[in-house]
Amino acid sequence: MTAISSKQQAANRIAVLKAIISYHNRNYYVLDNPEIPDGDFDALMRELVALESTFPDLRTEDSPSQRVGGEALAGFVKVKHRVPMLSLANAYNFQEMLDFDRRVRAGVGDAVNYVCELKIDGLAVSLTYEQGRLVRGATRGDGEVGEDITANLRTIRNIPLVLSEPLTLEVRGEAYMPNHAFVRLNSQREELGESPFANPRNAAAGSLRQLDPKVAARRGLAVFIYALGETAVSTPSRQSEVLQWLAGLGFPVNPETKVYSNIEQVLNHIESWTQRRHHLPYATDGMVMKVDDLQLQRQLGVTVKSPRWAIAYKYAAEQTETILTGIELTVGRTGAVTPTAVFNPVQLAGTTVSRASLHNEDYIHEKDIRVGDTIVVQKAGEIIPEVVRSIVELRTGDEVPFRMPDGCPECGERLYREPEAAAWRCVNPTCPAQIQERLAHFVSRAAMNIDGLGERWIHQLLRAELVRDVADLFHLSREQLLSLDRMGEKLATNLLTGIDRCKGNSLERLLFGLGIPLVGEKAAKTLAIQFQSLDSLMAAEQTDLTAIRDVGPRMAESIHEYFHSPGAQQLIQRLRDAGVNMHYLSSEPSFRRTEAVGRNPVVAEMLPFTGMTFVLTGSLVAMDRREVAAMIESFGGKVTDSVSKQTDILVAGEKAGSKLTRAQSLIASGQQPHLKILNEADFQAWLEELGVQR
Ligand code: IVH
Repeated sequence: MTAISSKQQAANRIAVLKAIISYHNRNYYVLDNPEIPDGDFDALMRELVALESTFPDLRTEDSPSQRVGGEALAGFVKVKHRVPMLSLANAYNFQEMLDFDRRVRAGVGDAVNYVCELKIDGLAVSLTYEQGRLVRGATRGDGEVGEDITANLRTIRNIPLVLSEPLTLEVRGEAYMPNHAFVRLNSQREELGESPFANPRNAAAGSLRQLDPKVAARRGLAVFIYALGETAVSTPSRQSEVLQWLAGLGFPVNPETKVYSNIEQVLNHIESWTQRRHHLPYATDGMVMKVDDLQLQRQLGVTVKSPRWAIAYKYAAEQTETILTGIELTVGRTGAVTPTAVFNPVQLAGTTVSRASLHNEDYIHEKDIRVGDTIVVQKAGEIIPEVVRSIVELRTGDEVPFRMPDGCPECGERLYREPEAAAWRCVNPTCPAQIQERLAHFVSRAAMNIDGLGERWIHQLLRAELVRDVADLFHLSREQLLSLDRMGEKLATNLLTGIDRCKGNSLERLLFGLGIPLVGEKAAKTLAIQFQSLDSLMAAEQTDLTAIRDVGPRMAESIHEYFHSPGAQQLIQRLRDAGVNMHYLSSEPSFRRTEAVGRNPVVAEMLPFTGMTFVLTGSLVAMDRREVAAMIESFGGKVTDSVSKQTDILVAGEKAGSKLTRAQSLIASGQQPHLKILNEADFQAWLEELGVQR
C-alpha cells in the first residue's frame, strides 16, 4: 500500500477497505467460511480505523468500524411498524398441528406446501434498508410500535450493513445469543458475583436493551432473517424462495429449512428434530410451519394476533427428576467458592448430566435445596444444567440442609463475603486450590500452552513446594522434576523444553495466562495488539483502556487494579527476570476464536470439546458431515478445513486422502504428538462415552 497523503486518497482507500472487510466479514459470520487468518482481518480493520480517525468526516454509519458500538443513548425512540409484526399461534401436540392443517386446507384447498423452519429462541427484530443500506433496526414491541435499537443491532456481526443490491426493504428475523456466547457471558457474570441470565433469550434481550451499544457489541449476538416486512420491490412468490433470495442479498438465513407437501411429512420432520436440535450451536424452542405460497398466505389472512398461515410447534422443555447426592465446593482462581450440585446422572436435552452450578449460598437457601432431596433438573435455555426445585413432598426427614463452612474447603482459611456480593471468597492468596487453578490456567493451551504440564503434575509440584506461583515454573530444574512421582527422563526433558519455549510466546498469551479478572482470550489479544508491550499496557490509564473496542469500564477497572497491585508487579518482574517475552509478536499464529470457558466442571461437562480443533475428512457413513460439524461446535469445539499445528482431532472417514496423510506425517515427525486420528466408529464411541447423544 502506498502512503496516504491526501484526503482523496484516504477516501479511495477507505472505500476499498470497506468492501474487502465486508466481504471477509460475510465469509466469516454469515457463510462460516473464512478465507483469511484472523490476524489479517484485524490488520485491515486497524488500517480502516486509523484512516477514519485521521479523517473523521470520512467515517460513515455503514462503516464496518462502527460495529464496535458508538455513543451511548439517553433512551430508546419508539418506531411504528408500518406492517404489524405478528406473533404465532402455538401448538403443543400433533393433534393441534393436524387441526391447523385441516383449517388451512378448508380455506385454500388440498394443494398446500409447507415450509418448516426452526423456531430460534431469541427476540424478533425488524431491519430497514434504504438503497441497500441499513438505516433502522427495531424491536417488535407490542407488534404495532417497537423501539429503535439501530445502534445496538449495527454491532451484530452477521447483520449486513450494506446489501448486495441497492434495495429499499424491511426484513424480519430473530436476534439470538449463540450457546458459546451465553455460557461465556454467564461465567463472567458469575465471576463478578452477578446473577446469571436464565436463558440465551433473556441474555439476548437484555443485551439489546442496553443504552450503551458497546455492551451489545461485546455480547456476541447474531441474527437469522426469516421474513420480509414492508417492501416496495418485487419479491419471490413463495416463502422458500424468499429465504433463498434473502440469502443472496447477504442476509444470514437458517440453513435447516425444508419444504413438504403434506402434514405427515411435517410431523416426521418435527419428530426428527426433537433431539437433534440440542446439538445446534444456538437454542431453539420449536418448529415453525408456514404455508409456502405467499398468494395462499394472503388468502388465508390473519387474526388480530397471528397469521392463519403459520403455526409454531413448541417442543416440551425437558425436565427430569434425580437425587441430589452432594453439594461440592470449588475454589476458583480468584478465591470465589462456588457450590455445585452433584446428582445421579440423567439424560437431559441430548447429554448425560450429573452436575449443575448452584451459583451461591443464597441461591441454595432460597430454593431450600438439601442433600438427599429428590430434585427436578432441566437445562436453562436447553444448555446449562440447573436445579429447578426440590420435591418437598418426597422428603423422608434424612435430608441435610446446606451450610457454608466457616473456613475454605481447601486451605481452612477464613471465608469472606463482600457486602454487596453473593460469593464467599477465600482470603488466603496462597490457598493451594487458588494457586492450582492459576497455574493450570497459565499453562493451558489458550494461554502459555505448556504441553504435558497437566493437573497431576501441578498438584505434585505444589505439594512438594517446588512452585508457589507461575514464575516459579521457570526455575524448575531437571532434578526437581525427576523427584516427582512417576516422572521419567523423557517427560522431564519435554516439560523443560515446553517451559523454555513458552518464554517466546507473544504477549497475548501471557496476558490471558495471568488470569486478570474479566480479561478473556479475545480481550487479551486486542490489548496486546493495541499496546504492543506489557510495559505500555501497565502504564495505561483507565480512559486509555475504555477507548479500545471490546474493553468496557469494568474490564478497564479490573486491569488497572491488577497492574497496580504490588503482588502482580512483583510477579511480572520475576517473569521478566526469567526471560519471558512481554511484547506482541505479530507472526504468532492467529488465536482460536473460541474463548476459553474456564475449568468450571459444569462448563466442561456442557462443552466437552472446548478448545479442541477438529478436522473432518473422507466420507462418513453413519453421520451427516454438516450435522457432525454443527454438533462439535455446539459442544465448544471448532471445525476447520485443513490439518495444521492447531488440529487436535482428525476424524477420518472412508477413502480419506491427503489430510489423513498429512496428519500421519505430523505425528510421525513428532511435530504434533498430541494429534489424534479417529475413524468414524472410534469417534462415535467417544461421543457415546461423553454422553453426547445423537
Ligand atoms: S415467523 C407472522 N419464523 O417466534 C410470523 N418466527 O412466537 C412471524 N421466531 O415473534 C414470525 N423463529 O420472534 C417466524 N423461523 C421463524 C421464527 C420465528 C423464531 C419467533 C419470532 C416470533 C415468535 C412467534
